[in-house]
Amino acid sequence: MERITALDTLRRRVADWKGSGDVVALVPTMGNLHHGHLRLVEEAAALADRVIVSVFVNPTQFGPDEDFAAYPRTLEADRRALARMPVDILFTPGAETVYPEGTAQGTRVQVPALEGMLCALARPGHFSGVATVVAKLFNMVGPDLATFGRKDYQQLLVVRHMVRDLCMRVRIVGVETVRDADGLALSSRNGYLSPEQRRVAPRLNAVLREIAGELAAGRRDFAALEERAQGELRDVGMDPDYVSIRRPEDLQRPMSGDCDFVVLGAARLGPTRLIDNVAVEQGTDTCRT
Ligand code: PAF
Repeated sequence: MERITALDTLRRRVADWKGSGDVVALVPTMGNLHHGHLRLVEEAAALADRVIVSVFVNPTQFGPDEDFAAYPRTLEADRRALARMPVDILFTPGAETVYPEGTAQGTRVQVPALEGMLCALARPGHFSGVATVVAKLFNMVGPDLATFGRKDYQQLLVVRHMVRDLCMRVRIVGVETVRDADGLALSSRNGYLSPEQRRVAPRLNAVLREIAGELAAGRRDFAALEERAQGELRDVGMDPDYVSIRRPEDLQRPMSGDCDFVVLGAARLGPTRLIDNVAVEQGTDTCRT
């Protein structure tokens, strides 16, 4: 595995590969890699001839009161983990490469269809920051495909929406969430949890799964289910931002007759904000009989 920081070097490598007909995958990350990231790499390697993993802690997706400065930067450990994986290039661009015009004056990408809801309400500007950096990484690397975790479901849809809307030639592959044995979705921010908070944290997934089970059993009183779930999270000491039942394709509220749902939740546990989601995919035959 080669580590590359300079954009022209990266572009030469990718041009050579593409000249030989290789399919190139990108796995965009902010580093501090865990098994969830490594699953994204495995999936990329299964679908492509060449795999590039980018590590860049993107300032524009952090709010002024968020953890940009404190975000764990563990490049040496990340490099060692990736060296054991089918990765060709670790791409670590500097801020001057990603934001040549600076972050205040630089071009921004916005996806209004998915702003104004769910995580965007608590994190204004976050998804614009994500869309902007992902668009830049796609333009730098020129991948044929890119993998993203389904844990960040709203982010996955933002990226899909941007790619469709800006006619980008990259296939977006969503990869299942990797969980600890007790159900907690892996996240770089889990490292902020105290032992007591870590014990409580899997309740978020448990509560979302309870709702998913009731939807699968035919319940459609969405507001009551969401309200009850938030109460259950408060009971264990979490401060829920939202628990919401949405349509998986566009995150709009479900309509009568809908059969597929995604149940999303975000909650604070001390200073740590956890997110998770559970899909309910029934198909019309099961749910409408
Ligand atoms: O999911 C992440 O780690 C980040 O939001 C991403 C997609 C790498 C953009 O900075």
